Amino acid sequence: MASSTLTQTQTLRSDPPQDLDGDLLCSDNPHGEERNGEQVSGLATSSDKPSFCWSSPSLCLSGQSRIERAWAHWSALGRPKLIVAPMVDNSELPFRMLCRKYGAGAAYTPMLHSRLFTETEKYRSQEFTTCNEDRPLFVQFCANDPDILLEAARRVEPYCDYVDINLGCPQRIARRGNYGAFLMDNLPLVKSLVQNLALNLQVPVSCKIRIFPNLQDTINYARMLEDAGCSLLAVHGRKRDEKDQKKIRADWNAIRAVKNSVRIPVLANGNIRHLDDVLNCLEETGAEGVLSADSLLENPALFAGYRTAELLAGDEKSNNGRKLDQADLLVEYLKLCEQYPAPWRMIRAHVHKMLGDWFRLHPHIREDLNAQSRLTFEFLYNMVDRLRELDVRIPLYFKKTHVRKVSANGLIS
Ligand SMILES: Cc1cc2nc3c(=O)[nH]c(=O)nc-3n(C[C@H](O)[C@H](O)[C@H](O)COP(=O)(O)O)c2cc1C
Repeated sequence: MASSTLTQTQTLRSDPPQDLDGDLLCSDNPHGEERNGEQVSGLATSSDKPSFCWSSPSLCLSGQSRIERAWAHWSALGRPKLIVAPMVDNSELPFRMLCRKYGAGAAYTPMLHSRLFTETEKYRSQEFTTCNEDRPLFVQFCANDPDILLEAARRVEPYCDYVDINLGCPQRIARRGNYGAFLMDNLPLVKSLVQNLALNLQVPVSCKIRIFPNLQDTINYARMLEDAGCSLLAVHGRKRDEKDQKKIRADWNAIRAVKNSVRIPVLANGNIRHLDDVLNCLEETGAEGVLSADSLLENPALFAGYRTAELLAGDEKSNNGRKLDQADLLVEYLKLCEQYPAPWRMIRAHVHKMLGDWFRLHPHIREDLNAQSRLTFEFLYNMVDRLRELDVRIPLYFKKTHVRKVSANGLIS
């Protein structure tokens, strides 16, 4: 194992490491290139042509033209409302593809470290993979140097629809690395990161932010980003010190205030556990779409209308003729991993998330999993069979919610 890579990978994590083979992909195709003629890793060369041509740098245009172009781009992508949020070690290609199959209209990559991305071929090829069907796609970077960020972004622009800047990571690692939400203390630097991309990239720039304790500061921040050339803003409605997203509700009022203060498309993030939350959030914030993170990990079919039992009242527990559970979803995910190789540490993380409730009923199966220092697909498929033989039945429930009825401006028609 290349210990240097393991260290790099660990320093990017926002959650504790779950296995020892963190730098190994789940196939003998470690660079993910040309597999099935489809998959690519993010290694643009100067001969690569961007698939979307933003044609001239955004900041060369007048304010109004830039706004119009931001909307034209969003419309050309079909104005997706249901979006997979960026998740370190969790929103990788096979997981994105699974969520797309179950209703996601767009997805973010995990946060990529811009300096490591420019410096290390191995980091690039393992941490960024995509394929033709993986669109619309936001590729997210953390950064604190405008030139390094631009260099990293240029490598991925042929493969994505937005280059996104992570301005919301609140973890200690981000404080030490001076990126994410800690850039809220250095707004001139944030401005130059956005401007440099907007001036030089062929794809639009988006930003994902957290809110300030003071609403007016949040509004000023959002306006500054828009003026700097940001074409789409995702607002996570929690503050930098509100790390426990299970306990602390996101502030949708603050997201609405941002939405009402800028003219570019705005996405809302926080408190999306099922499709009724989506409807309520779009209605309350006026946002163009929503991002979901934690709940999707447990239930990647969330955007298709499925939900776990605890999110339903007793009388709603009907499957409406549709049968699906988290073990089915895990098997689909594993098949996607065979098609689109991903690091085993990511696969392991998804197994724990999707089968968490199942393991609570049969902890010895989780212990067997934890005892494997190296995983194989055979072991994982067998593990699902063992759970089925133990007669575990934890269905997902299907509830019809008409998200399509929500018009492009977020209001119910
Ligand atoms: C496992 C995990 C990894 C995350 N990694 C990132 C990341 O790479 N970039 C980012 O901007 N946010 C990251 N987040 C934050 C989410 O994108 C999202 O803002 C947050 O979880 C709130 O959404 P939720 O309430 O739907 O979970 C991560 C969240 C989780 C649970």
